[in-house]
Amino acid sequence: MEIHKYEKAWLVGALVLIVFFISTVAYVTAVTGVDMVDESGGTIHPDDVSDDERFGDPRVEQVGENEFEVYMVALQFIFRPDPVEVPEGSEVTFYITSDNVVHGYQIVGTNVNTMVIPGQIAEITVEFDEAGEYGVLCNEYCGIGHADMEGKVIVHPEDEWEEMQGGDD
Ligand code: CUA
Repeated sequence: MEIHKYEKAWLVGALVLIVFFISTVAYVTAVTGVDMVDESGGTIHPDDVSDDERFGDPRVEQVGENEFEVYMVALQFIFRPDPVEVPEGSEVTFYITSDNVVHGYQIVGTNVNTMVIPGQIAEITVEFDEAGEYGVLCNEYCGIGHADMEGKVIVHPEDEWEEMQGGDD
């Protein structure tokens, strides 16, 4: 079979573009530390969420000197817990699930942006190097209150955090 030379040129051109696009994505992923949310968080039946040891009591838990875990449930139309409060410089792993419909969880200004799918636990880790208030959005349409579904992550400066801890005990 003979391939017309223009057709050949287009084929080569298309291949070059495909390779270019894939390299671009690979490069940006490597450089900016984009991380895919995968199946590592595991699964949970939506009916079991409220009885689950982690999600029955949604909370922020300190698991190391600068390490925290957040067990979060997305509901129509709030996140629990909210706000999430951690100290500056902490590494926080979020485990997020939903017992009703698909939600989203995006922390503005960070690389946290995941779908929250009933039956699945989204696991995502982020380091908060700068104190401040970070806005949280639900970015999957989840019903009538979707547009108002938002939350907050408050990253406290070290001294403020220590004061808070002292006050609690
Ligand atoms: Cu929850 Cu949109």
